[in-house]
Amino acid sequence: MPRPDNPRPAGIPLASSAERMEALRTRLGGFAFGGDYNPEQWDRAVWREDVELMRRAGVNIVTLGVFAWASLEPEPGVFTFEWMDEVMDLLHSAGIAVDLATPTMAPPAWLSQKWPETLPVMADGETFGFGNRLHYDPSSPVYRERAAIITRALAERYSRHPALAMWHISNEYGPTAYNAESSVSFRAWLQREYGSLGALNDAWYTRFWSQTYTDWAQVDVPAVPRSWMNPARQLDFKRFVSDALLECFVAERDIVREYRDDLPVVTNFMRFYRNADYWKWAREEDAVALDIYPNPGEEDSWVSAALNFDLMRSLKGAPWVLMEQAASAVSQWKVNNVKRPGMMRAGSYQAIAHGSDTVLYFQWRASRGGHERFHSAMLPHSGTASRTWVEVEAFGNELPLIKDALGATSRSDIAVLFDWDAWWALTETHGLPRNEFDYPQLVTDHYRPLLEAHHGVDLVSFDSDLSGYRMLVIPNAYLITDRFIAELTRFVEGGGVVVCSFFSGVVDEVNQVRQPAYPGGLRGLIGGYVDEYWPARDAETFGVRFDDDGGSESTADWWQDSLHAESASVRAVYTSGLLDGRAAVLENAVGDGHVVYLGTRLEPAALARVLTGEAERAGIRSLVPDAPAHVEATLRESAGARFLFLVNHSETDAATVALPFAGRDLLAGTDVEDALTLAPLGVAVVRAQHS
Ligand code: GAL
Repeated sequence: MPRPDNPRPAGIPLASSAERMEALRTRLGGFAFGGDYNPEQWDRAVWREDVELMRRAGVNIVTLGVFAWASLEPEPGVFTFEWMDEVMDLLHSAGIAVDLATPTMAPPAWLSQKWPETLPVMADGETFGFGNRLHYDPSSPVYRERAAIITRALAERYSRHPALAMWHISNEYGPTAYNAESSVSFRAWLQREYGSLGALNDAWYTRFWSQTYTDWAQVDVPAVPRSWMNPARQLDFKRFVSDALLECFVAERDIVREYRDDLPVVTNFMRFYRNADYWKWAREEDAVALDIYPNPGEEDSWVSAALNFDLMRSLKGAPWVLMEQAASAVSQWKVNNVKRPGMMRAGSYQAIAHGSDTVLYFQWRASRGGHERFHSAMLPHSGTASRTWVEVEAFGNELPLIKDALGATSRSDIAVLFDWDAWWALTETHGLPRNEFDYPQLVTDHYRPLLEAHHGVDLVSFDSDLSGYRMLVIPNAYLITDRFIAELTRFVEGGGVVVCSFFSGVVDEVNQVRQPAYPGGLRGLIGGYVDEYWPARDAETFGVRFDDDGGSESTADWWQDSLHAESASVRAVYTSGLLDGRAAVLENAVGDGHVVYLGTRLEPAALARVLTGEAERAGIRSLVPDAPAHVEATLRESAGARFLFLVNHSETDAATVALPFAGRDLLAGTDVEDALTLAPLGVAVVRAQHS
């Protein structure tokens, strides 16, 4: 197959992800601003208007072709690139760069018709047919082959096009399939993981319920449960699904890289997405990219957005790409509220505050038909005579004011554990003392008080290096790995502070209870043991008294560890219920650090007191200690410059914030000294006078 010349002479190493992203920043000369562009839905005359309006709004990049497979390859092997050539040329002539997508998320009808085995079979045995999107089994060899063909054709045609600035591989990887071909791949995955059937039987504890396998052909995907399933098998299936999807990404990425290695290649992640271990995925991406749709109808949806943004920054420890957000309403909920005036702007700066170097939307122009016909767009159905357009245009033209913050990074003293293995084990397998854990919610509950107290927070996984942190929070990590226990021990012995909540450290990597129980993995660190886990009855609450100066009283619910202190001291006891007088919270000194263990679900105010109190004890300073909880504060730093981002999420209340340093408010264009006032939904970006 003919290949265009690769610009890099042989022997020169491939560009690094950081170099590719730096080149993109330099090329765009500022924050990336734009969105998904779907010109295949419109006549040529509209394209010209699009480009003119894009320029007016300051758009410098668009994502092209995400859902264009049927328009690019109307029959197998027959390509109709002419329209895309024209669009690429048009965009380029207007100075707009292209993030070119491979269209493999939505295979065309001919593919599903000719090769129905590519359609995913769902857990209930039904086939997910054509007519939606994501209708592919990631393990299907035919799907993978057809995806490779269209990817190669695109790479061949456009790798050297001057508009091309980035590759967008597929879209929101997601399906879980239970096809016969999925079983073949699952088996191969298990053979690679375990080597032998004996090792698999041990890991899956198959002597229980006579589940011993004597032939690899007996091992298949855990579909259509008729009874409770083997928890180790379920956990491995989740890992396999994530890896199978990742293989699809890597295959397409490697094809486009054959043609050019200096452009970033990414795919878009989703908010708290349970089917893909994004820590693992991030290693394969040049940058982490996120699609996020906080519900504008929920007043504090900015909290979980902040956590998602911090997670995205932490996945690669680098600036990331806000790939999709809504200009106003979405179309996925029962009631789709608009973003009120100022909300889109505040949310966009919020993403930048947490490390994004882009503000991109789904989508540029609102579709006239299809499921998302009422999903908002940068250019709404009512065109430029609309509030949303006015806000988008104003924002796009304001964004260059903070250009100097581009590429700046953040570092935090506090880390919160967010790990997919911990998530899957806690929520995807049954048979726990309580089977209603909501992992993202639990992490949010532990994160929120730190955010509201204006502390910077990173997220970490079981594989992370903890050495740069001073405090670590472990929300309900039922599964915990050997490697992490060793890292944690080093961390605490070296002076780190850990706050760990109940039902953590219970099982190992293959979902078997660590011995001696409980929590086998953390018993030495928490300085105590649990003889039984006691989920609470509905509506049952317990009094809790802390051993602090005032002997502060609070309440707890949902769960109790029947907890026994060993080397730990008791920091709080129950004051009612069957465990009245017994330990609810422990504190254990380990080396130069200590571990606080919460054996119950404390009411939010008490949890907040513990977390912010421990941060204070660890000497970690809040960025703006006196600011109200609904004002977010973050810091981004680059060589020689510091930028303080302040976002007021209140729709009604202005907020005056005492500043940690004097500087220039880049958006207002004024110098600020001791304090500034933010209007409701107001934003300030203060560049420090002295770095
Ligand atoms: C994303 C997706 C887009 C669009 C958007 C709005 O999840 O990638 O294609 O559907 O949501 O709902």
